[in-house]
Amino acid sequence: MNDRNRHYDRNRPRQGSPGPEGFSDGRLVEVHSQIARDKQEPAQGFSMTPILVVFLFCALGFWAGLYLTRNSRGFSASAFDLNAPVAFASAGPVVFEPDAAKGQTLYLANCAACHQPTGAGVPGAFPPLVKSLWVAGDEKRIIKIIIAGMAGEVEIDGVKYNGNMPNVGVALKDAQIAHIATYVRSAWGNAAEPVMDASVAAVRKEIGARGQYSPKEVLDAHPLGN
Ligand code: HEC
Repeated sequence: MNDRNRHYDRNRPRQGSPGPEGFSDGRLVEVHSQIARDKQEPAQGFSMTPILVVFLFCALGFWAGLYLTRNSRGFSASAFDLNAPVAFASAGPVVFEPDAAKGQTLYLANCAACHQPTGAGVPGAFPPLVKSLWVAGDEKRIIKIIIAGMAGEVEIDGVKYNGNMPNVGVALKDAQIAHIATYVRSAWGNAAEPVMDASVAAVRKEIGARGQYSPKEVLDAHPLGN
């Protein structure tokens, strides 16, 4: 490196040797480094979008979607015609549909541990629900057993039980019990009528908060075969 360029070589401060204006190289580097420290990084005419703006943009899109879904009235042509007759799809009470598929899911979660996923039960411990006269016929029988449980001696299909079924249904909603009963009454070759949530609500109101049924109590009120 020749003498002329020596002054511009920032990596090699030369302490003590005077520069052209009487500055020493060391002092020059010191002054420059202070200026350089306060300067921003060079930007090339664009910069990163701030994350807040990205977030606001997404939130706006989300809100717009919600607004459209709620206020477009299914994109019908009359949505903004103030004189159009108002006909909301959701008018009127929601009709309950007994759903055996939902019932199956609930059955697997609430009943299958004892009565088995196949409904076959465990002889001597948990009675079968397959082709059971207890399950068929009068729906109040199965609804009562699900809500309040049942304990005591009973003979089912020629096998003796002295079991203890807890009040599983107390924690379930009327609709959930209706789905379960509908499933149990239609699965595995059973062929009884579906059960409505209103029937469950009526039984729940009728029996109130009570302990488990004995098999005799259930049979007295609802004899098998009907
Ligand atoms: C903890 C085990 C257990 C659970 C969970 C259970 N049960 Fe039971 N269930 C029994 C036992 C034991 C009996 C017989 C009670 C007796 O011996 O008096 C019974 C009896 C029955 C009966 C009458 C007898 C028959 O075989 O038809 C029905 C109907 C029934 N259960 C349905 C259900 C349904 C539906 C569920 C889920 C909502 C359920 N059970 C959950 C143990 C259980």
